[in-house]
This record gives sequence, C-alpha cells and structure tokens, in this order.
Amino acid sequence: MRKPIIAGNWKMNKTAAEAKELICALAPKVKGAVCDVVVCVPFTDIALAAELTKGTNIAVGAQNIAWADSGAFTGEISAAMLKEAGATYVIIGHSERRQYFGETDKTVNARLTQALKNGLKPIVCVGEMLAEREGGKTEAVCRTQVVGAFEGISAEDAAKVVIAYEPVWAIGTGKTATDEQANETIGYIRSVVKELYGEKLADGMRIQYGGSMNAKNVEGLMAQEQIDGGLIGGASLKPDDFAYIVNAAK
Ligand code: PGA
Repeated sequence: MRKPIIAGNWKMNKTAAEAKELICALAPKVKGAVCDVVVCVPFTDIALAAELTKGTNIAVGAQNIAWADSGAFTGEISAAMLKEAGATYVIIGHSERRQYFGETDKTVNARLTQALKNGLKPIVCVGEMLAEREGGKTEAVCRTQVVGAFEGISAEDAAKVVIAYEPVWAIGTGKTATDEQANETIGYIRSVVKELYGEKLADGMRIQYGGSMNAKNVEGLMAQEQIDGGLIGGASLKPDDFAYIVNAAK
C-alpha cells in the first residue's frame, strides 16, 4: 500500500506574515491526516514555516534547488541553504519552471541528482501541454520527461522520489483532467518507471495528480487506483480547502 501524499505548492504567493496566518489556520485542521502533508513555500517563508510546523504533521518543502553546491549562480538556492532553513522536500521541474525559466529534462535531472545527494525528498513534475494531448502525444511526452529526469539515478535513490503528473492545460485553469484521464496517464508513467527500475519499485512509487485539484474533485481523483495524492496550487492557499483535500486523502 502506498501512503498518499498531499503537497501544497504556494508558488509565488504569501509573504512571511501571510504564511504565518495560513499555517496557523491549517495546522489544527490537518492534525488527524493519514496521508503525508507538505507545504512547498517561497524561499523566504521556509525558515518561518519550519518553525511554525515544528511538532505538527506538516513538512515544509521548497519549489526549486540549484544543481551545484555553491558558487556563482545568481538567483539560485543551494541544498545546504534549503536544509538549514528547514525544508525536507523540494519540487523539481514544475511546468512553470519549464515554460518560463528554461528548465529542461537535463536541468531537472541535475537538480534531482543534487536533491537526492543531499537527502532532500524530491517531487518531480511531468506533464503534457494541451496541444500535445490533443495531438495524441501525452504518453510520449511523459515518457521523455520521466526517462530524462531519472537518467543516472540509482534504484536506491529513485525509490525516494515522488512524481507529480500535472497536465499543463489543467494547471490554474479550473480544468481538471477527468479521473480516468489522470488515472490512465499515471498508470502509464508507472509503467515507464517499471521499465527503468522494475515492478517492485514502480509499485511502491508515489505518483500524485496535479492541476486544479480541489475540495470538489479530490474524492473522485483519490478513488483512482493509480493516484497517490495531489500537488495542489490554488486550493493550497485556502486553509479550509487544503485541509479538506488532505483529510480526503486516505
Ligand atoms: P493548481 O496548480 O492546483 O492551481 O492548478 C497545481 C500546480 O501547479 O502544482
């Protein structure tokens, strides 16, 4: 049995003062959760979020990680910095990074390697654009992204990775993949992981759905056999909605 994992992706939202308000409202609402609960916050909120979630069942994550240990990489953030601030998870290869900041399968692989080397728990995002789905290329795109992300990663390390399947056309659009579409594509992604690392590892790997997941559609999505949780953007900014999603993940 795979333990579900619900992660909030705050994106570029919430100042420290706002983060405090959100976390304080959220913590008591999710304390009975049976899934893993993560909030992936802006860099400037990590230390505060780590402090506020001490003694709770909420883990703190970042939204990016540099592939190098340190040095001349203006605007990047290192694994050591993230860990010292209190992050234990990190999102890698989100489609917004791929679309707006030039992230490629190669850089995703380099960041993933660095996260694993430093004991951070990676959430690696993959997913197709609308034109790719309409062109029948969903599986090919997901395959390329998964194979690229895991290049050179040992099975021991791969077993620590969470994948988030996020169809780009469903992110922030209010348009969710149907339960069946999400289940089918996640099942396909699991088959690619199986090709790379074998059945046992693939069966144990947690693969989330992401893209307009909310309090209204969570039950249908979570009822699907292949779906092991969610990466939640918009709805993670509202404590009641996010708590509802967390508590529905059984
Ligand atoms: P959304 O974002 O829930 O707002 O669609 C999900 C994500 O981008 O991780």
